[in-house]
Amino acid sequence: MSVVGARPQFVKLAPMARAFAGRCDHVVVHTGQHYDSSMSDVFFDELEIPRPDEQLDIGSAPHGAQTGRMLEAVEGVLDRRRPDVVLVYGDTNSTLAATVAAVKLGIPVAHLEAGLRSFDRAMPEEHNRVMTDHAADLLLAPTEIALRHLRDEGLGRRSVLVGDVMTDVLLAVRDRLAAGRGARLGPVEPGSPYVLATLHRPSNTDDPRRLGEVLDGLTAVAEQGRTVLLLAHPRLRARASSWGIDLERPGFVVVPPVGYLDLVGLLGGADGVVTDSGGLQKEAFLLRRPCVTVRADTEWVETVELGWNELVGDRPLDIASRLSALPCPETSAAPYGDGHAADRVVDAVLARF
Ligand code: UD1
Repeated sequence: MSVVGARPQFVKLAPMARAFAGRCDHVVVHTGQHYDSSMSDVFFDELEIPRPDEQLDIGSAPHGAQTGRMLEAVEGVLDRRRPDVVLVYGDTNSTLAATVAAVKLGIPVAHLEAGLRSFDRAMPEEHNRVMTDHAADLLLAPTEIALRHLRDEGLGRRSVLVGDVMTDVLLAVRDRLAAGRGARLGPVEPGSPYVLATLHRPSNTDDPRRLGEVLDGLTAVAEQGRTVLLLAHPRLRARASSWGIDLERPGFVVVPPVGYLDLVGLLGGADGVVTDSGGLQKEAFLLRRPCVTVRADTEWVETVELGWNELVGDRPLDIASRLSALPCPETSAAPYGDGHAADRVVDAVLARF
């Protein structure tokens, strides 16, 4: 049983659902943490993921309430369906809730994307991943560095390196777009240079001064003559509007979140990326696009070490200058695997359980 609930988990579910097909029964539970069609349905449609078998419709709430409601609802489903193993994805509140629900019922848990650490305990995802890793029975690490973290925490014997399933889906979609099937035109005028921007972390959106500084940093990108194509997550829109901050600035194009095919298409055409998303930093590297990350730390340190990503957490006003100065040396390094991680996950899960 896979339990998912938030946007990045739907992307990871796509290669997993395909890899499980024909090898075992695979039941999908959607907690409903994300519910807007642009945050959920579009991924199931475009990535051809089978509809969830269970839809819990939990929705938004403060962390404790949201996690608690999901815990109770997932427990009910587990009790009824009694899966042999529960697969949880990444580091969201849905991940933690499903993990706790399963271990309390004595049902084994496998954690996909285990071992990632930002070492920032102010980040909700950091609590979620540390607690999930320590509760789970099988830890599926995407990178060597993640595996090292697990060993350092005494979890090495439960851990296995499988690669990153986001590489699987990204490479497949890139090839699908290159073959001309489903290629999209972006909302920016064809031929004009643009930088793709996303912001959704509470550390950037939930303090008006900080949000203002980050937007000023992006304004400097627009002043260099590159359109800032801002894909506005619902949290960003909600917080900006509550602070009375206008997201629309000269040189900005602000649009709602896009589906995965559009995202990959837009990324492929972008001059660079400015983001606080984990996944997008890595996707930028895989498509060799320079990236500036508006955070003080990252779980995807390989992108920084290889010269394709820079952290500007404490200097958001430097976004434009840092983006232009990134070295971006050619590299054949593949720290995120070969695009076949999902098959390795299924092998590991079936072998272990
Ligand atoms: C969650 C994950 C984060 C992940 C992100 C991807 C946690 C702790 N965080 O953050 O790791 O990177 O998803 O997007 O689980 N909202 C809508 N419609 C939706 C979903 C959310 O309007 O479909 C709004 C609500 O106002 C909600 C806010 O966005 O309160 C935040 O949503 P929430 O699910 O709490 O967390 P994210 O910020 O999306």
